Amino acid sequence: MGCQYFDPCDNGADNFTIAIPRVTFGRGCLAEAGARARGLGMSRVALFTDRILRQGPYVASVLESLRKAGLDVAVFDEITIEADDDSVQRAAAFIAGGGFDGVVSVGGGSVMDTAKAAMLYGLHPVDDFLDYFAPPLGAGKAMPAALLPHLACPTTSGTGSECTSISVLRINHLQTKFVLANPVLMAQQALIDPACCASLPPMVVASTGFDLLCHALECYTAKAYTRWARVDDPAKRPLIQGANPWSDLAARKALEIVGEYLDRGVNDATDIEARDQLMWGASLAGMAFGNSGTHLGHALSYGVTHLMQDITTDGYAVASPFVPHGISVAVSAPAIFRYTAAAAPERHFEAAGYLQADLRGAAAEDSGEALAQRLIELMRKTGVPNGLTGVGFAPADVPALAASSARQVRAIANSPRETNLVDIENIYSAAMQY
Ligand SMILES: [Fe+2]
Repeated sequence: MGCQYFDPCDNGADNFTIAIPRVTFGRGCLAEAGARARGLGMSRVALFTDRILRQGPYVASVLESLRKAGLDVAVFDEITIEADDDSVQRAAAFIAGGGFDGVVSVGGGSVMDTAKAAMLYGLHPVDDFLDYFAPPLGAGKAMPAALLPHLACPTTSGTGSECTSISVLRINHLQTKFVLANPVLMAQQALIDPACCASLPPMVVASTGFDLLCHALECYTAKAYTRWARVDDPAKRPLIQGANPWSDLAARKALEIVGEYLDRGVNDATDIEARDQLMWGASLAGMAFGNSGTHLGHALSYGVTHLMQDITTDGYAVASPFVPHGISVAVSAPAIFRYTAAAAPERHFEAAGYLQADLRGAAAEDSGEALAQRLIELMRKTGVPNGLTGVGFAPADVPALAASSARQVRAIANSPRETNLVDIENIYSAAMQY
């Protein structure tokens, strides 16, 4: 079944490329930061974090380790919860004037994504911020062959940014997020210490958990890499290259982990096993989707964060309007997988099984509904808002949501089912409430 998914297609790709950093995982591994940074040749380090984390024990532990190793460290903490072009420009100025030979990031996706982009824009400035983004949004300007060595230390169990070549940035004048993707943006090493998740509020674990779930589910159900066009220049093989045997491997395990541990990890902060497993699952999902791309779940989330109004979320000290990334992905997910299952029913059936959906008496043609029901069950158990109405939208918003998300061209094309604007409108309409 798995092999058939990758059967050759006329003019389709016959190769795929995998990239992941050197990863260290385990409780207390932040204490290795100094030795790891020295091993990467660092002597003067730019440490990226946010203002809240800077006051806490994880940054203190990393700083102590870096200083014990004899490294000179300067801290940049002006990072907002949604990395945007303004905050990246400030971070880029910090890098440009600092005389650094390495970067350490300690934080969630925004911190790591800012660190990646700050090196790019600080060391290789461009006239227009969008120049490095792919057309039609930007000019698709070539990125340099190397940035500074980067040691990434995640403090949440969701984005997987420590394992990807992706930086997701909000472009303020366009009021939405777009993806910068290039192998040069990948950290050389990651220190993944699950002890960082001990103090996360339940809604943060739920949001980041659904982010990891959807990373894994979207890359497991993405269009096969053999159905993307072959590239003549290997350097131009895109990171969004479709599902492949590697992304299957990591996504499958990440789905099993989130199916087993999401409910426990959200609802019991003392459940160390569950929170450790979710941290590992997030990194696995990052290693998976970072080498395949996501599809409609993430593409349709950008319309939500573009057009959200007058909405706040428990557990986040952020002014309205704010819907955390994982929630913006989750609210449309049941409707999306009901829709995509028709194009790849066996894949959706397998994914539903990994997530512990109730498949008794079900056949492959029931897989969309089984998967949707399991997602809805997990959303209810973890307090995730019930569809788009749960984050402040109404049916009248559908055309604007669809027009906004339609700009995520490559992610939409990574869907296993060919999807047009009317399809997107229909999915949003079906995602209002479950
Ligand atoms: Fe995500």
